[in-house]
This record gives sequence, structure tokens and C-alpha cells, in this order.
Amino acid sequence: MKVGICTGGGDCPGLNSIIRAVVRHAAQFENVELWGIKDSFNGLMSEPYGVRKLDCETVSGILMKGGTILGTTNAGNPFSLKNPGGGDPEDKSQKVIKAYQELNLDGVIVIGGDGTQGIAYELAKLGMNIVGVPKTIDNDLASTDQTVGFDTAVEVAAEAIARLQTTAESHERAMVLEVMGRNAGHIALHSGIASGAHVILLPEIPFSYEAIIQKLDERKQRGKHHSVIVVAEGAYPKGGEESFKVSSGRKNLGGVGHMVAEELFQRTNIETRVTVLGHIQRGGVPSHVDRALGTAYGVKAMDLVMEKKFGTIIALKGGRLTEIDYQDVAGKFRPVPADDLYLQAAKGVGICLGQ
Ligand code: F6P
Repeated sequence: MKVGICTGGGDCPGLNSIIRAVVRHAAQFENVELWGIKDSFNGLMSEPYGVRKLDCETVSGILMKGGTILGTTNAGNPFSLKNPGGGDPEDKSQKVIKAYQELNLDGVIVIGGDGTQGIAYELAKLGMNIVGVPKTIDNDLASTDQTVGFDTAVEVAAEAIARLQTTAESHERAMVLEVMGRNAGHIALHSGIASGAHVILLPEIPFSYEAIIQKLDERKQRGKHHSVIVVAEGAYPKGGEESFKVSSGRKNLGGVGHMVAEELFQRTNIETRVTVLGHIQRGGVPSHVDRALGTAYGVKAMDLVMEKKFGTIIALKGGRLTEIDYQDVAGKFRPVPADDLYLQAAKGVGICLGQ
């Protein structure tokens, strides 16, 4: 049996633990070959194919390593591949199918977030045998309770908040930390609660400056002249979604954090400073949770391949690993739900959510 494996979309800590687990578990079966595909599906889009055989030696020592040994890209959608020379994007999906057939692959394990899994689902419809593994620091995949990469990103953000607390206090400033999360605020919410943020702003809850200022005022009444405000990159003020998107322009380069800091300064004269954490959340050594979860996902993925349960994506549900049909989760993502236990916890300890 010949099985391909690739990582797609943005990288995250823990990808290598999945790859390692797949390869090591495959070695426990007779006649299973693992082939790593370079840079998402790009390795299948042009010849010579970007593939290489993986064995236990290849994956030795990668458990603690951030990133992905296979490489990745979020500009590799075979259904509409950007043309480097400009012009219309190209549909290279049939090239991918051809490569899959010529390489005699029996299946492909696709490790990715919502974008990559959506592509995988379309390729599955064209006849590829696919098992999906959910990953993203954002933790916003509908299929699973936890994606690989989330725990590490929260750790990094929580440490940043803890560090900002002390300097905020020394200078009596409002420190704004912008964390990742385009569509979902799981990272902001978890890290903010964990490190005692005073305000947490999420894409799920359009915020008002009045609510934030009221919170800062309340703190002042109690003799607290500093605060830490955690903002998910996709957060926006009430009624301001469109104008904000236009004015902040480019994603991931710091937009909403600066806007919040400036607006608060203008309205209150409180000294503000901004930190945009950016890709630091995605790099470095994965947490023990992501390494263990990645290993469990990798083993499960290989089991699903051996059982020929293709067209499925792995899901962690209530502490158990299971699989879900692609068609049931494709295109669905998981924002922070209104009844989320962490949302309730944040409200319960008096954190301002901008409402
Ligand atoms: O989806 C993961 C994520 O890290 C988001 O939180 C963020 O908006 C995006 O990827 C960043 O993508 P890029 O690496 O292309 O800037």
C-alpha cells in the first residue's frame, strides 16, 4: 500500500508530531509505504513531482520541532492556483489527480485547517482517497473539539499577556495585545482568561468603546491605573465591520490592535501601547498537549487508512477520537459559541467583552 501525506495552509506547532506518528504507526503494518508531498498539494501539481519516501529514520527527532518537515503554503489551491505572472488563476485539480494515479497512491492523509480541508473534500469528490487531520492555531474547525496547534498558541499568548501586566502596572498604561484569530476568538479568550486580561475583544462580539472605557473607569475607581486589553485580529467595533476591513486593509500586519489603542487614547487620554504577537504564536516548540494530541491524531489517521475509511476527517469529541464524513463538516467552522463555557467564565470573573 502506498500512502501520501501533506500539510496545507498556515503552519502550526505540532504538525511534525502528526507526521511522525503516521510514519511510525505505518511501520507497524506490512507493506505500507509513506510518501511525503511537498508544500500542500503543490508537490502534485507539476513534474517532477515533489514527493519523497518517509521512514522512521526521516522522522527521527522531529517531535519537538515546530513547523512542518513537508513544507506548506496557503497559496496552493489546485482548483484556482494563482498565476505568478498575473492573469486568471488556473485549475490544476486534474494534474493533482493525474499525479495521484501515476504515483499509484492508495490514499492521502491531508493535515490542514478549514481551507485545506475544503480543497481535500473537492479532491475526494474527484476520486482521491483522503483522510483529513484537523490543525490550526485558531481552533475553529467545526469537526473537532480541539485542533493541533491551538494549545501552543494559547501558551504563547498567555505568556505575552502575563509579561504585559507588569509593564502596564509600572507605567500605568493600557496595553493592547493583538493575537491571531481572523474568524474566531478562541486564542484571545483562552489566553486572556488564563493571564488575567481586563478586556477581551472577539470577532464573535462586535465591541463598543463605551463598554471598554467603562471598564477602565471602574478599575480607576478601585485604584487600578493599568489594564491589559486582548484583541483578536478579526474583532471589530459595532457597526464598523466594513469600514474597518477597508481601513485596516492588510491582514496579519496589525490592524485592529492599533485602532483600539489609538481610539482609547483619543477618548480618554490614557497612555496606550500596542503589541502585535503575529506569527510568534505559530512558531517554536509545540506544547506537550499539541505533541500528544498530534501523535493521537496521526495514529488514528493511519488506522483510518488501513480500515479504508476514506472521505473522513478525524474529530476529537468528548475526549474520544472518531471520524466524520467530509460532507458533514466541509465549509463549516466553529466560532466561539454564545454558550461557550469560557465565555461564561470570562463574564463570571468580570472580564469586559466589549458589550
Ligand atoms: O489560520 C491560522 C492563522 O494563523 C490565522 O490566525 C491568521 O489570520 C492567518 O493564519 C495568518 O496567515 P498568514 O500566515 O498567511 O499571514
